[in-house]
Amino acid sequence: MKKLLITRRIADPVLEQAAALFDLTIHEGGPLTAAQAAQAMQDYDAILPTLGDDFSAAAFSGDLRCKMLGNFGVGYNHIDAAAAAAAGVIVSNTPDVLTDATADIGMMLIMMTARRAGEGERMVRAGKWEGFGPKVGLGTHVTGKTVGIVGMGRIGQAVARRCHFGFGMNVLFYNRSPKEVDFPASQISDLHDLMGAVDFVVVTVPGGAENRYLVSAAALAAMQPHGIFVNIARGEVVDEPALIDALECGAIAGAGLDVYEHEPYVPERLRALENCVLLPHLGSATVETRQAMGQMALDNIIAWAEGENPPQRVN
Ligand code: NAP
Ligand code: GLV
Repeated sequence: MKKLLITRRIADPVLEQAAALFDLTIHEGGPLTAAQAAQAMQDYDAILPTLGDDFSAAAFSGDLRCKMLGNFGVGYNHIDAAAAAAAGVIVSNTPDVLTDATADIGMMLIMMTARRAGEGERMVRAGKWEGFGPKVGLGTHVTGKTVGIVGMGRIGQAVARRCHFGFGMNVLFYNRSPKEVDFPASQISDLHDLMGAVDFVVVTVPGGAENRYLVSAAALAAMQPHGIFVNIARGEVVDEPALIDALECGAIAGAGLDVYEHEPYVPERLRALENCVLLPHLGSATVETRQAMGQMALDNIIAWAEGENPPQRVN
């Protein structure tokens, strides 16, 4: 039997199937450090890792027993997929099954930030609400406004659809390559132009070295003072200190964030701000979606174990 390591407790039916097919170990105790990841590459035939496990280049040096990483998650910026390929290690991910859940969180962050829902909830819970008032809790209207999607892939398009069909919004987008979509949306060739033209920016590009700080201080400075910034992609895509500066000085109106540069660390300066909504990386966090992700990750490992090319292979 092949030895499989699953690095976190995922849905029970998936663990049961894995235990029936493999000599299974479930890692307890949080994300794998770089040293633990490197050791696991020596000890197991396949690994089902996830976000936070450190499979950077060092994990892929030397004589490796492990030849398959079936990642739980569509984003795999915690795995050096090129180094893995060079070492003959296949990497797969879990696209599509989490698109709607993540787009829902993007829409929720637009709404919560624009309508000051986090602030209002804190006020009610703190017993500080003094009742309805014509000027209490005034936010900004969402319906009919303009959204700018940064990265018009699966999740970007799903957010854009919600904005267009659900909220009558005008959709602009910035994307690395030319993209045609089957609903009204205009591609803008310059990121700063996009960020300056819209009421809401939603970031949905992958992380990784090539996109680090894609949303720079200068890109944030292009936003309008009433603009709201939403990030459901990866924290490293945005210059986080520059974002905090922009929020603190009122250069932008607010931010809705699901992801952070050094998760789970969220800077105190960010936590102190009323004009942002902060979620703990909830994008794909529904029971149904997390089960589907686990199943897809395991199915890729099973395909590899049976000598097939894993269907969601990325390298
Ligand atoms: P996807 O379908 O691959 O879409 C990514 C899009 O970004 C593509 O259209 C790509 O353009 C574009 N892009 C990449 N680099 C770019 C750049 N430098 N400038 C402009 N556009 C760029 O991926 P997805 O399934 O939508 O997922 C996107 C990311 O969301 C994941 O990688 C993950 O990091 C994040 N995510 C977060 C959560 C969460 O819990 N918050 C959940 C799921 C996913 P091309 O057309 O040129 O390839
Ligand atoms: C979650 O962030 C994912 O990339 O699946």
